[in-house]
Amino acid sequence: MLENSPFVYRDGTLFAEGVPLAELAGKVGTPFYCYSSGAIEAAYEAFRGSLSGLDARIFYALKANSNQAVIATLARLGAGADVVSQGEMLRALSAGIPANRVIFAGVGKSTSELAAALEAGILQFNVESLPELERLSTLARAMGVVAPVALRINPDVESNTHSGLSTGAADKKFGISILEAEAITDRLEGFPGVEIVGLAVHIGSHLTDLDPYRQAFARVAAFYRELQAKGLALRRLDLGGGLAISYRNETVPTLEAYADVVREATRGLDAELAFEPGRRIVGQAGVLVTRVEYVKQGDGKRFVVVDAAMNDLIRPMLYEAWHDIRPLTESPVGDPRVTVDVVGPICESTDTFAHGRPLPALKEGDLVAICSSGAYGAVMASSYNSRLLVPEVMVRNDAHAVVRARPSYEALMAMDNLPPWLESPQGGEARGVA
Ligand code: LLP
Repeated sequence: MLENSPFVYRDGTLFAEGVPLAELAGKVGTPFYCYSSGAIEAAYEAFRGSLSGLDARIFYALKANSNQAVIATLARLGAGADVVSQGEMLRALSAGIPANRVIFAGVGKSTSELAAALEAGILQFNVESLPELERLSTLARAMGVVAPVALRINPDVESNTHSGLSTGAADKKFGISILEAEAITDRLEGFPGVEIVGLAVHIGSHLTDLDPYRQAFARVAAFYRELQAKGLALRRLDLGGGLAISYRNETVPTLEAYADVVREATRGLDAELAFEPGRRIVGQAGVLVTRVEYVKQGDGKRFVVVDAAMNDLIRPMLYEAWHDIRPLTESPVGDPRVTVDVVGPICESTDTFAHGRPLPALKEGDLVAICSSGAYGAVMASSYNSRLLVPEVMVRNDAHAVVRARPSYEALMAMDNLPPWLESPQGGEARGVA
């Protein structure tokens, strides 16, 4: 865990800011996510601080964690929002981020999503293809408005991250090549419903190396200059997100080093800069607390079966991601470690949080925190195996609030409807809930 993490042991007990996590477990049950509002604020302020002196604005990438308590925390600090769906846009607006601080990104915006965003009057559409530009232009014309657009450029840069998290290479579905963007800007009269206000780039997520940024920013900044020279009134360069966090004490770029790369690439550029960080703002601000159900000795392997599962936190299964696992009760220094697999209850072998992990001896009923789970945790959860989505709790100093309650089984059952031909008295009974 990080040095100035909000999750620290005090007298042998793991706290979230001023609240013992075990106390929260007693109140809300397990599993649950816990977020530190102080850590979210500190990460945001650090990001902003590192960009000082630049004409820069931060648009928090909601996809990392879109709980409205998280968004509202950032809204109060002046953050904008990077959204990728109408749902995220509505969350941003309802949590207090004004439309003129919302950027809408994504390769597959539907007509109704585009219309809703035009209606709301958002700051910018990051357009990812020619057909999207055509559709947006036609729609905006019909609505009697002009859509502010940044063309998302695919800079054809490889980034050294998990292949599922890399977006800046030419063979990825994201963005428009410089060549194609050039062609588009040569015939803008064909798109009377849009105004090209800038360029955008985002080359991937959890980037642990600054070189791909250096390359991508240089390419896009050069293209930006070229378009300005051609007479296009560009004013905004959106440099995306993607900066890694340290899950396992690995070295990741400092904000200062990242900002230096930005400064170098944009020196003298007549542009307002936009950033879309997600993970770096909320990743270290959350943990998933889970309880040990069983300790099971397999054939040559020891399994710790916990009550959280891959449907609650899918990163380890999807990206082979490593998350630190800490008992809520600190084990004394020098206590022996036991090598275990930490697994969930789901009927798939992929439902594993840690393979061959040396951990303090755990027993039934013990509580552990799966760390660095504030980003891409709860938002990627599902109710696979008809498990209930886990609650989310936010702490602030000694206070805590349940910012998303655990749904009831009644609510889960009520999501489905039987077709008329299956409705019968017996059918009704069969649907009864415990
Ligand atoms: N902007 C755009 C256009 C994006 O696609 C993303 C992330 C971000 C900003 C924010 O990136 P960040 O700063 O959080 O790295 N589920 C994966 C991460 C997927 C990221 C997708 N796009 C994970 O759990 O690692």
